[in-house]
Amino acid sequence: MPDPTPQANEVLVAVQAFGLNFADVMAMRGLYQDCPPLPTVIGYETVGIVEQVGSGITHVAAGDRVVAFTRFGAYATKVVARAEGVVKIPETMPNGVAAALATQYCTAYYAACVAINLQKGEHVLIHAAAGGVGTALMQLALRAGCTVYGTVGSEEKINLITQHGAHHAINYNKRNFVDAIKELAPNGKVDVIFDAVGGSSVRKGMGLLASGGRMVCYGAASMSQKSKNIFKTIKSAAEFGIYHPAQFMMRSVSLIGVNMLRIADDQPQILQHCLQQVTQLAAEGILQPIVGGVYPIEKLPDAINQLENRQTVGKVVVEWGG
Ligand SMILES: NC(=O)c1ccc[n+]([C@@H]2O[C@H](COP(=O)([O-])OP(=O)(O)OC[C@H]3O[C@@H](n4cnc5c(N)ncnc54)[C@H](OP(=O)(O)O)[C@@H]3O)[C@@H](O)[C@H]2O)c1
Repeated sequence: MPDPTPQANEVLVAVQAFGLNFADVMAMRGLYQDCPPLPTVIGYETVGIVEQVGSGITHVAAGDRVVAFTRFGAYATKVVARAEGVVKIPETMPNGVAAALATQYCTAYYAACVAINLQKGEHVLIHAAAGGVGTALMQLALRAGCTVYGTVGSEEKINLITQHGAHHAINYNKRNFVDAIKELAPNGKVDVIFDAVGGSSVRKGMGLLASGGRMVCYGAASMSQKSKNIFKTIKSAAEFGIYHPAQFMMRSVSLIGVNMLRIADDQPQILQHCLQQVTQLAAEGILQPIVGGVYPIEKLPDAINQLENRQTVGKVVVEWGG
């Protein structure tokens, strides 16, 4: 493909590395509505050197090392990103750490600090807590002084989240998370749930919210293996539960949806704010992205398989090398 040319308010980046996200799996399976029709170049974030900037851009310049949030297209050697999705990073920041900041840390920061405002002392349940967004949420919740309950699918991941400070680690393959929360949390309820599993996990979680509780839905990993059969899709959608606004009012609970693509498109200044915050916090060592795998480009299929098969933790990044 020809090299892209940046338009006004766009930045051209020569890519050193790009990050993988679970949404890439959904896109490859044809289950991601926002993804352009396949074949296409996917990928949400890139780490590299600015080659050219469009008119009117002052916060980055040619030669700067940056991380950029891309609206697809990051699995490439040259990428154009909207200026608000680009931020300068230290020369010494490892590719994996930098790549984690764009999508996973921005999503976590937006969810925890913008969409809801985590309060000190709150009890917070994080599903897929060992994953890219999950570990970011865990760090933000611990920093806010919350009690963290993490669910994961293996004993290795139990060890990882415990080492990183989770107060309660639940292996959902061994123990139903609803029973665990009922036993472990005050009055069997939590204040906040971050759910990217979707389906019945959301329905069950809604029953665990205390008064003032917030459920943040930001993914549907449980639907990644589902077929595109319309009846099966309706059945899967119904697993989320059916709600009436009066229930939310009576119980004083909220259900909040997060989609960073929509924020990037329609609220780019908020994306830039989140990106700057997480980059600053990472540069100061306050946030410490966990890099679960660094692969050379030849091993991209292996990296994707590991992500799809739940074998990864933290951030997975692929380097172009050469
Ligand atoms: N809304 C947004 O803007 C936004 C932005 C970024 C990411 N996301 C979503 O956030 C979630 C996490 O993304 P990520 O990139 O950080 O991925 P990740 O958490 O590193 O990987 C996905 C993890 O989800 C867990 N999982 C639970 N049910 C699963 C299933 N049926 N199939 C596969 N995995 C399952 C697995 O962990 P266990 O083995 O511990 O179960 C797996 O490792 C994804 O659902 C993604 O689509 C949303």
